[in-house]
Amino acid sequence: MVFVTRRPFGFTGVEVPVIGQGTWMIEGARDSELLAIEALGTGLDLGLTHVDTAEMYGSGRAEELAAKAIAGRRGEVFLVSKVLPSNASFDGTLRACERSLKRLGTDYLDLYLLHWESRYPIAETMRAMEKLIDDGRIRFAGVSNFDVDQVKAAEAALRHHRLAANQVLYHLGERGIERKLIPYCQQREIAVVGYSPFGHGAFPRPNSPGGKALLEVAQRNHRTVRQVALNFLTRLPHLFTIPKAGDPDHTRENAGGDGWTLSGEDVAAIDRAFPAPAHDTPLAML
Ligand SMILES: NC(=O)c1ccc[n+]([C@@H]2O[C@H](COP(=O)([O-])OP(=O)(O)OC[C@H]3O[C@@H](n4cnc5c(N)ncnc54)[C@H](OP(=O)(O)O)[C@@H]3O)[C@@H](O)[C@H]2O)c1
Repeated sequence: MVFVTRRPFGFTGVEVPVIGQGTWMIEGARDSELLAIEALGTGLDLGLTHVDTAEMYGSGRAEELAAKAIAGRRGEVFLVSKVLPSNASFDGTLRACERSLKRLGTDYLDLYLLHWESRYPIAETMRAMEKLIDDGRIRFAGVSNFDVDQVKAAEAALRHHRLAANQVLYHLGERGIERKLIPYCQQREIAVVGYSPFGHGAFPRPNSPGGKALLEVAQRNHRTVRQVALNFLTRLPHLFTIPKAGDPDHTRENAGGDGWTLSGEDVAAIDRAFPAPAHDTPLAML
């Protein structure tokens, strides 16, 4: 049985699987919700215990579905949720966290993120994050969709805790974070969690030049093209990835993205097919 490798989650030292599970858009028809709960459970069985959700997803429905998947298994899970920027005042963040905890059927989160930059001062949101840590409601605080300057501002706003993570868009067609953000976060021991590793539905088609290059690498390694993508996206220390968990067969395939290593030749082939930008680019987000 595959069991996904863990690595220290930035400065926290908590061992977290390099491949986790996302829950955006898992809500919907009853059958597809049941399938997503099954997918999440299958993922937990395979060691994909980093479960990412947010109050935004299905207006709380994704958190309720995640609760069903982790029921009785809370101790196995590195559970992450996010506060909406529109709720990210000091009191609003505290209240949003309590609502998420209730929906998730737990009394603590492993990591709580500001979903993207808010109109509230970052110092106010981070003060709420520190209170949540001090009160035992969350273990660690982080941000999402923050560029280097925004990360520095969040770090500066924290008075007695450190920033644990930045969750950002990262897939083969979107490698801008490799220029400045990944090196900065690595130096500061901030975990970088890449979201939408399959481009949120824009995965390279098999007959495209990129798709053909991926297939060659996959065949050389006796893996699938998606497993190659996940392996590439977690090839550096401090990198984690969270493909969507909507289908148990997909989850099983995704777990096989770990546990082997791309050769230098493979990495070079992927670099040629999906080059990282040659110049700094603004942080991309969905
Ligand atoms: N912080 C943020 O702002 C932010 C933004 C976007 C996403 N996220 C997080 O990142 C997670 C992943 O991103 P995403 O949901 O945008 O999409 P994704 O992981 O890039 O997946 C794209 C699509 O591929 C499908 N898929 C997954 N594994 C597959 C496989 N092995 N074979 C074929 N298809 C497969 C997924 O649906 P099915 O498996 O259901 O078919 C999904 O529709 C989200 O669920 C969310 O938790 C965070």
